[in-house]
Amino acid sequence: MSNYTATAVACANIAFIKYWGDRDSSLRLPANGSISMNLEGLTARTRVMFNELYTQDTLKLNGELARGPALSRVIQFLDLVRALAGKNLHAAVESQNNFPTQAGIASSAAAFAALSLAASHAIGLNLSEQELSRLARRGSGSACRSIPTGFVEWQPGSSDQDSFAQSIAPADYWDLVDCIAITQTSPKKTGSSEGHSLAASSPLQSARLIDASHRLDICRKAILERDFEALGSICELDSNLMHAVMMTSSPALFYLEPTSLEIMKAVPTWRQSGLPVFYTVDAGPNVHLLTQEDAASQVIEKLNQFPSITSVFRAKTGGAARLTANQLNDEH
Ligand code: DP6
Repeated sequence: MSNYTATAVACANIAFIKYWGDRDSSLRLPANGSISMNLEGLTARTRVMFNELYTQDTLKLNGELARGPALSRVIQFLDLVRALAGKNLHAAVESQNNFPTQAGIASSAAAFAALSLAASHAIGLNLSEQELSRLARRGSGSACRSIPTGFVEWQPGSSDQDSFAQSIAPADYWDLVDCIAITQTSPKKTGSSEGHSLAASSPLQSARLIDASHRLDICRKAILERDFEALGSICELDSNLMHAVMMTSSPALFYLEPTSLEIMKAVPTWRQSGLPVFYTVDAGPNVHLLTQEDAASQVIEKLNQFPSITSVFRAKTGGAARLTANQLNDEH
């Protein structure tokens, strides 16, 4: 039985060009392509044990047995893995994040990337990176981007076969740092999956989509040329476009909080005074400030001056999802 167990670690990622809205929500085919950077040290570690004696799937999240929607989502995902392997085995899944879940750092991305690798390996499948990325996508769209290393692009594709992510550049290509200002650690009210389903109700979504491939080209080029200024301006535009769609969908979604806006307004003034920094915000209130290694401590110092910021995480560019020893502990 021992070879039915595997453990994997995967990083969260921050989207530079955002995925918002699906063209097929059951297959999680996105309305547009997206680009992200893996976040080193912000990881999910997931162990999967398949056993002939188990009569149902179980899920432990950060040490606590999960039920309800979180468990159903994992069961649905394991059904895909079982179908791929042609084996009808149940599993015990244990997953630990080392950052707050559902607070605007893509916890589902890290979790489903790690689950894809651990579950497929445990059940005896030997999937290629592309196949793993496609599988992870079915659990959570952005999870497909946490499979390859470094800077990653998700090709939207038009079917299950051709919608997957690939690395644009390795983790050590550019010394970018993400300084994440945590303003709230409680779970958000509207999860991304529900948010995606509302995107099409915004009259602005079609305008956002029409120009997406142009923004992807600019972003990809900026990464390849290590052009910080170009990357910053396209990322801020793309983040603002997504939040404009969110705020104009019905019902309207407001993920930004007053502190998020305060930071977003301060960033251009910091830039004017010579600090290389730009912002981007996912589906939560926490603001991600991207900077270069040698300016990171200055950015963090500035963030620490906001009384409503409870902590600041600092992450360099992270690597690919990987298999690891079968132990769960707090050291990721
Ligand atoms: C705003 O991948 O979390 O972070 O597929 O429903 O799990 P599900 O959605 P998810 O959506 C991510 C939305 C985003 C932008 C991004 O990461 O591209």
